[in-house]
Amino acid sequence: MKTYNYKKSRELFERAVEVIPNGIYVHYSPAPLIPIDAYPFYVESADGSRFIDVDGNEFIDYMCGYGPMVAGYHNKNIDKAAIEQLKKVDTATGAPAVMVDLAEELENTITIADWAFFAKNGNDVTTYSLMVAREHTQRKKIIRLKGGYHGVHPWTQSPDHPGVLFEDAENIIIGIFNDLDNLRDIIKKNKGEIAGLISTPYHHPVFFDSEMPDPGYWQEVEKICREEGIVIIVDEVRTGFRINVNGANETFGFKPDLICYSKAMANGYPISALVGTNEIKSSASKVFYTGSFWFSAMPMAASLATIRELKKTKGVEKMKEFGEKLAEGLSKLAENHGHELVVSGHPAMPYVRLADDPTMKLHQNWCAECTKRGAYFTSHHNWFVSTAHTEDDLKKTLEIAEDAFNALKKL
Ligand SMILES: Cc1ncc(COP(=O)(O)O)c(C=O)c1O
Repeated sequence: MKTYNYKKSRELFERAVEVIPNGIYVHYSPAPLIPIDAYPFYVESADGSRFIDVDGNEFIDYMCGYGPMVAGYHNKNIDKAAIEQLKKVDTATGAPAVMVDLAEELENTITIADWAFFAKNGNDVTTYSLMVAREHTQRKKIIRLKGGYHGVHPWTQSPDHPGVLFEDAENIIIGIFNDLDNLRDIIKKNKGEIAGLISTPYHHPVFFDSEMPDPGYWQEVEKICREEGIVIIVDEVRTGFRINVNGANETFGFKPDLICYSKAMANGYPISALVGTNEIKSSASKVFYTGSFWFSAMPMAASLATIRELKKTKGVEKMKEFGEKLAEGLSKLAENHGHELVVSGHPAMPYVRLADDPTMKLHQNWCAECTKRGAYFTSHHNWFVSTAHTEDDLKKTLEIAEDAFNALKKL
């Protein structure tokens, strides 16, 4: 099988470092892509489940833009809704009517939602959720969980990161997912001071296996938080509309007060949302929070179409089924080659690693060999599947993975 070269990507990157700090920053930067010579840096076009880089190489996309693409690049219904809205208005002097339609759709779709607030990025709404919880409880402290990612605002970062002050996270307490004793201990030591607990519905850190909630975990968290008057915030920026369109909390059997969405809610159009219950609505209305582009109508129309499309096509079930087949196929191949593949997390967002590999080197090389042949796999982050991934994609992916296992023997 032929492997790709990335001449134009490298040339663009050399130009980029002259005019952009780091050339490409954070999750798309070369740094997390190991070995870096196996990955493209710049994308030219995309369609369905695939994208083409600037060198003309085609990839079956298992990162889906790190989550936003959920129903296929250039999904006809979603793009049509977005373009029709664009022709009418996008950003202008006033809120667009489609904003009300979208809020109603979310209220009808997400079980706990009585209202919705819109912004642009996931971090806009995770930060807003903290402000709402603080206003609601008149308390300062927030519990977030070790390894959980909620964005890049200083409160989410470690104080030893450049540009971050100790004071930025002074009222953030780090807890542990699935550890109820730890939660009880934190609450005991900070009695009456904790405004909210922010957590993803299941634990999906980078570089580690994903962890599902233990039986009874969320039910007990809910009970404790209710007793202590702590606002429960679920960060569904990554899981949203991939696990359960009604909210991942429905899958895990509990009721949060606030849920943060972004990534997949508009199939790649830029929008985020905080949804919440009536009990907390007046606190949300008191917090001063907005942005120049937060009333942009095109992503709202795209989001409305995305949610309807996912419901109509039973998208969540489809992604689960595809993810299960992918995990099964890759695990069998690994076994045939004498390796053990561990797949954790939800099938629509699997975290995959070769287990007989304590240094991660074998796994990194295998992901790289797959990518060089057209199945874009990262080695440190969960992958994503979409409703556009087909049986043909699966077949091709397994052929690529087989060839990559063979190539590993020659390294
Ligand atoms: C769980 C989670 N929360 C929040 C964020 C931040 O979202 P954004 O990058 O859109 O600000 C991310 C982004 O990856 C995420 O995965």
